[in-house]
Amino acid sequence: MIQPLFWKNERLLIVDQTGLPHDYKLIEIHDHLDMADAIRRLMIRGAPAIGIAAAYGLALGLKKYTAGEHAEFFRQFDLISTELYKTRPTAVNLGWALNRLKDLAERQRHLPLPKIQAILLEEAHRIHAEDIQMCQQIAAQGLTLIPDNANVITHCNAGGLATGRLGTALGIIINAHQHSKNIHVFVDETRPVLQGARLTAWELTQEKVPFTLISDNMAAYVMATRSIDAVIVGADRIAANGDSANKIGTFSLAIAAQYHRIPFYIAVPSSSIDPTIQSGAEIKIEERQGTEVTEINGTSIAPIGCPAISPAFDVTPARLITAIITERGIFQPPYHFDNI
Ligand code: MRU
Repeated sequence: MIQPLFWKNERLLIVDQTGLPHDYKLIEIHDHLDMADAIRRLMIRGAPAIGIAAAYGLALGLKKYTAGEHAEFFRQFDLISTELYKTRPTAVNLGWALNRLKDLAERQRHLPLPKIQAILLEEAHRIHAEDIQMCQQIAAQGLTLIPDNANVITHCNAGGLATGRLGTALGIIINAHQHSKNIHVFVDETRPVLQGARLTAWELTQEKVPFTLISDNMAAYVMATRSIDAVIVGADRIAANGDSANKIGTFSLAIAAQYHRIPFYIAVPSSSIDPTIQSGAEIKIEERQGTEVTEINGTSIAPIGCPAISPAFDVTPARLITAIITERGIFQPPYHFDNI
């Protein structure tokens, strides 16, 4: 079963995604400090998975609090929540999950602390279970957009590892494969951290979905020469007008798709839509270390001291997006997420 974390015998285990595809290793997360570190280092990544992870990190961090003082407990709550919130700024699911636990804790403030602690852990389980269900619904919604014998391109990893299980964009692709649609996937390797080559290629291998790995700069060529039917990707945050932040390189993929008149789809759970911001201009883009560009797997590929930047995401304007597929339905431009 491909999923990024498991609750087993009262312990939280996450797949260390930095070791994939060659080393599948589970590591135990004891508290928020372990979890914040794991999120920062991309051991667990992908917007929905980060949300689930943050909820567990908060619940586990607070489980350690045994002093019995309500005021201090809620002070710790805010400190831990802030620590987790700061790990990665772009995925809206992170703050969404933390706020959900905060609202719940406030509503149950009158209860004894052990009860509140248990309720918070249950809520983390619920967030995980709901995400799995949303992915299944997204996969069913998206199936209607995939023709038989489809060639599709995907970018980054929006699969089981990036969500509760199954994935968003990859969930649709796997569902189409399981419905015998004879789908073939072109997987962008996704520089700089290679989530496509390391994670999506690994997931598709496990699921026996036919695919071909390409470097990112081949995408327009592949569109021009391989009769591509659709591009399907995930997103980390979608503004009220449909502008969508996703892994760096998504924007150029959308431009190339429009040039070739290829439908460009984004698949997300409703928890990735941020109705509080009007446009993509308000989305904070995470800036990571330039060494992600000057090195591959710790090996330098550029002159020592070479200047480099590593913005983790870019924003694709809504006008380049053919449809946004959610568990609640398929949205088309002009985007209004009224029932989300
Ligand atoms: O930096 P990452 O690996 O967390 O980036 C992940 C992506 O950009 C995914 O496409 C996005 O989170 C959607 S995952 C269903």
